[in-house]
Parts: sequence; C-alpha cells; structure tokens
Amino acid sequence: MINKINIVSEHSYDVLIGDDWLTRFNEVSELRGTVLVLIPEDFDREFAVTASLSTVGSKFEIIRLPSGEAQKTFQVAESILEICGRINLSRSDLIVGIGGGATTDLAGFVAATWLRGVDWVAIPTTLAGMVDAAIGGKTGINSAHGKNLIGAFHSPIEVIIDLNFLKSLSERDKNAGLAEVIKCGFISDPSILKDLASIELDFGSLISKAVSVKGAVVSNDFKESFNREILNYGHTLGHAIEMDSDFTLRHGEAVAIGMIFAAELSHAHGELSSSDLELHRDLIARFALPSSYSISAWDSVYGHLTRDKKNRGGKIRFVTLKSIGSTDRLEVKDEAQLRKIYERIAK
Ligand SMILES: NC(=O)c1ccc[n+]([C@@H]2O[C@H](COP(=O)([O-])OP(=O)(O)OC[C@H]3O[C@@H](n4cnc5c(N)ncnc54)[C@H](O)[C@@H]3O)[C@@H](O)[C@H]2O)c1
Repeated sequence: MINKINIVSEHSYDVLIGDDWLTRFNEVSELRGTVLVLIPEDFDREFAVTASLSTVGSKFEIIRLPSGEAQKTFQVAESILEICGRINLSRSDLIVGIGGGATTDLAGFVAATWLRGVDWVAIPTTLAGMVDAAIGGKTGINSAHGKNLIGAFHSPIEVIIDLNFLKSLSERDKNAGLAEVIKCGFISDPSILKDLASIELDFGSLISKAVSVKGAVVSNDFKESFNREILNYGHTLGHAIEMDSDFTLRHGEAVAIGMIFAAELSHAHGELSSSDLELHRDLIARFALPSSYSISAWDSVYGHLTRDKKNRGGKIRFVTLKSIGSTDRLEVKDEAQLRKIYERIAK
C-alpha cells in the first residue's frame, strides 16, 4: 500500500491508496453476508473488472449500470433498491460502488436510503472520483430540476484507490481530474503545485496529498458550512459554465476556467499577486485545461450564477484567495463588476 489517510466524519474511515484493490476488496467482503457490487456496464465489459470477483467466492451480486450521468436517476436507484429488497440485504451486508464519481454517488445514495443506511465501500476508478467524488460523504442522484438535488451525507466505511485504474483513463479525463488536484494546491497545499511542475507526475503522491486536503476539510466541517466551502474554489463560475455548456465540458474543465476567474477576482480586490495569478494560467495550460469561455455566453452564465444555491440576499458568493494556501470569501451584487472580470477570461 502506498498510503492510508484517515477521515473523520459521522464515523472514522480510511482512504487506502495502493495498487491491489482486489485483495483489499476480499478482506472487507470476508465478514459480510452478501456483497452488492455496482459497476457501469461498459466499463466492466471493456476492462473485465468484476471477472476477477469470481475467483473469491460466490456471495456477490453484481449489478451492471448505465454509464455516466444516466445511472444517477430515480429509476436506476429504485431498481437497485428493489434488488436490495429481493435479496433481503441487511445491515451486516455491504454495498460496493466501483467506477467514476457517478457510480460512487449512486452507490452511496442507495446505501444511505436502504434500511436508513447500510455500510458501503467506494472504489473510485477515475481521477476525479479518487480525489473528489468518493471523498467527503456526499452521495446523490439527479432530478429533472438539476444535478445532485436528491442526496444524503453518508460516508463509506472505506475508500479503496488502485492506481492501476488510471492507466485506462483518457488524457482528457486525467487532466479534468487534475483540475481538482490543482485546486487543492491553491487552497491549502502549495507543495502540490510544485509537484505538478515535475516532468513525470507521481500520481500516488498527488492523490494522497489531494485526499489529505479534502479529508482535513471535511473532517473539520462535515456538513458544509463555512470551512467546507473552500472546496468550492473555482466552482461558482465553474458550475455556471458547466451548465451553460450543457455538460459538454467536463466538471474539471469548467472548474479550471472558474479558478482563473476566481483568481482574477481575487487579484482585482487587491488580494492575489500577479505572479500567483500567472501560476493559475501556467498550470491550467500545462494540463491542456481550458482557461476561457465564450464572451457571448455571459447573459446565460450570469443567469446560472444568480441561481446558485450558495447565494444570500441577492449577492453571488465566491471563494477567493488572499494568497496561495489562504482562502477568503467575496460576495458581489453588481453585475457590471462581474462582467468586467469575465471579459478578462472570455474570448
Ligand atoms: N459526491 C461528491 O462530493 C462529488 C464531487 C465531485 C463530483 N461528483 C460527481 O461525480 C460525477 C463525475 O465523476 P467522473 O468524472 O468520475 O465521471 P463518471 O463517473 O461519469 O465516469 C466517466 C466515464 O469513465 C468511465 N470510467 C470509469 N473508470 C474508468 C477507467 N479507469 N478507465 C476508463 N474509463 C473509466 C465510466 O464508466 C464513465 O463512462 C458527477 O456525477 C458528479 O456530480 C460528486
């Protein structure tokens, strides 16, 4: 094992970072009656992930899911809950989600709702899942009214990260995941930014550091008030752009643009230095992440910004940086002021 990071939320659990998920999966499954494994169908078919499970016994029930956001629906959640009922899944059994953030969100949500909460294990297989979605206990599905509107805080009993899963990820998905790693560097651990400048990236170390940043924040503020908010650096504009793009941009890509915007906003308020602002642009360019968005999209992007659930009293709320590793908050009411900053990042 490369590293073990403890997180304390409604209970204490470990995030294991290594290169042999199956051995650990067998150990955690051993004392359970039934293990319900949720995995996207295409991912399982292409990489034969659950084929190896047959070697460790027969108490597994494998449910193959639609891929991506198509699995985060009421219908899919209901069909899994139906199976939980049919197989009489009890509190001594276990649910395991193997896949990207969409799968671990869904698995956690089903685990939170069946019997008002059963144990579950997250095995994130995308970089975004490893450093973000599977960490922190937020679970959920989408509604016709928006993404992640239905959900629960329900932490897994363990997160098993296997670096081998990164090998099959596309460069685009890896870079989108790195946007969240870059964010952890900016808000809390500048050593991550140095590591990202190396020619050969050490993913084991980068993932450990990013998980430690998120783990420390959620251990300190599990249910999202002031402290947990720092994880939203780059996300206020990022979410608005993600929605405007109709989710054609990856979450991390939209967050990359949002971080440049937040850095420009911080700088305009006399906080972040020009060189730290430049560092944002350099790192984001280095990983082929986008740094600008369409100028003509402003009205629509602003519309999404005004509907952000974090807003209070008609003001749009941003996490900003005083300097690298030191966060602040800024509330802006004036559209013209925001538009002026947006023009600096728009094309
Ligand atoms: N709960 C949270 O705190 C939190 C935080 C951030 C994001 N999220 C959620 O995470 C989701 C996005 O996660 P994502 O970016 O991992 O996308 P995803 O889960 O949709 O996965 C993207 C695609 O990659 C495939 N895949 C998974 N692992 C692979 C691998 N190793 N090699 C090749 N292909 C692989 C998947 O099957 C899928 O087709 C969103 O639903 C978002 O809302 C949740």
